[in-house]
Amino acid sequence: MGDKNMNITRDKIITWIEAFSAAIAENKVYLTDLDSAIGDGDHGVNMDRGFQAVLTKLPSVSNQDIGAILKVVGMTLVSTVGGASGPLYGTFFIQMARKTNGKLELTLDDWIATIESGLDGVIRRGKANPGDKTMIDSILPALEALKTAAGNDKSLAEALSASAQAAHQGMEDTIPLVAKRGRASYLGERSAGHQDPGATSSYLLFKTAAEVLP
Ligand SMILES: Nc1ncnc2c1ncn2[C@@H]1O[C@H](COP(=O)(O)OP(=O)(O)O)[C@@H](O)[C@H]1O
Ligand SMILES: [Mg+2]
Repeated sequence: MGDKNMNITRDKIITWIEAFSAAIAENKVYLTDLDSAIGDGDHGVNMDRGFQAVLTKLPSVSNQDIGAILKVVGMTLVSTVGGASGPLYGTFFIQMARKTNGKLELTLDDWIATIESGLDGVIRRGKANPGDKTMIDSILPALEALKTAAGNDKSLAEALSASAQAAHQGMEDTIPLVAKRGRASYLGERSAGHQDPGATSSYLLFKTAAEVLP
């Protein structure tokens, strides 16, 4: 059992953004290959462009509250990433910022409310349903795992680990799905048999969170 009193600090949020940016850079070709199979082959390039821009902006907000940091992440993605993923990831972070305004650290319950707000923003903006083969297919199971862990009085570290595992499962579960949103939906039934690139990048959000936030 971890320490129940451990919270997510502002510095850990910065480390998380840096770790996610590094994971995107490392997986740039992989994400683009996944998108070549069912989209236009730019997801890794899009995400990497956005997060390299985020990295240049982070130092200017690193002494501000978590909401201010997440807002800059979101605004930077909206302004530097084209395609579907820029506005959708941008909305995710901007809506996370709304729940973390003025905060210098987050409890597990705060983190759950923050992820839920981000996911709600993505759903409002992109109109995807669960099972449509999109990024929400890894974010939603991750959120549900966090809630289950919190309900079972698990530590922050255990909850984050469970959310990463659930996001991984959700990512793999996109393989047989037929895409209903985004470019992959143009393929119809031919989109089945391929892992969704956005669900894959979103899994990396929760993987890196489990590694650096506890
Ligand atoms: N309406 C939507 N709602 C949620 N996610 C979406 C939606 N449309 C696309 N996506 C996600 O965006 C990913 C594609 O991102 P990207 O390749 O960067 O943009 P584009 O499709 O414009 O080339 C998809 O794999 C999917 O996960
Ligand atoms: Mg694409």
